[in-house]
Amino acid sequence: MGKIALVTGGSRGIGRAIVRELTENGYFVCFTYRRGKEEAYRIVQEIGEDKVKAFECNIQNFDEVKEKVEEEVIKPFGACDVLVNNAGITKDNLFPLMEIEDFREVIEVNLIGMANVTNVCIKSMMGKREGVVVNIASVSGILGSFGQTNYAAAKAGIIAFTKALAREVGKYNIRVVGVAPGFVETEMFAKIPFDKKKQMIGNVSLGRAGKPEEIASIVSFLVSSKASYITGTTIIVDGGLV
Ligand code: NAI
Repeated sequence: MGKIALVTGGSRGIGRAIVRELTENGYFVCFTYRRGKEEAYRIVQEIGEDKVKAFECNIQNFDEVKEKVEEEVIKPFGACDVLVNNAGITKDNLFPLMEIEDFREVIEVNLIGMANVTNVCIKSMMGKREGVVVNIASVSGILGSFGQTNYAAAKAGIIAFTKALAREVGKYNIRVVGVAPGFVETEMFAKIPFDKKKQMIGNVSLGRAGKPEEIASIVSFLVSSKASYITGTTIIVDGGLV
């Protein structure tokens, strides 16, 4: 059996591109989806059941994560070699107008959800004394994007979590790395009004949004042995956002 990767939120956008890239690199990829059962099924059919499997999981709920990840990944495969914490949501608004529930939900999915999945997987990696965790953050967690107090706080938390966990597990030969994308053409990006998007792209040196595949290729590098001396840091992939 080759190496096993778990990707959260793999049914669309950046997650789907990561699933494709890792299967092309020889990984057997298990990915989670929240609502997109049909999309997930289509991806499995396209790539092939010998290379990928999908299961439904709400990463917000620790008990559900523990049960599903153990059942679908740890028991059948022993451990996961690579974990990509990709699932995330936005609920943008100016902070004074933001419902506190929307603040809480964004923290719960992006930050606590990432911790839930990592908590379940990291022990199996420690047992194996090998592994890579890649956390998808955002430039918002570095710049503090306008209208994204909840998301920026969650993503900044992911960047700090990445640094701290890397210190703890380095001696087990486990690397923990973050990726902070700028604007990437996915459904999440599509939600932003046209004028706002135009203004945002105006600040990108390359003059365009990124493609999901351009994030997936960095993830592919980071999980490979070519990146064997990179840990604790977050790589910015933003087309030169100024
Ligand atoms: P997307 O909205 O297209 O996909 C998000 C994925 O997360 C979906 O598969 C969805 O099912 C899953 N998900 C959402 N809530 C979940 C939950 N509670 N439990 C399990 N899965 C859940 O988003 P996109 O654009 O592909 O983003 C992927 C990651 O990249 C996210 O972490 C996002 O914050 C980050 N990112 C995206 C950027 C962009 O411009 N698209 C920029 C910077 C970071």
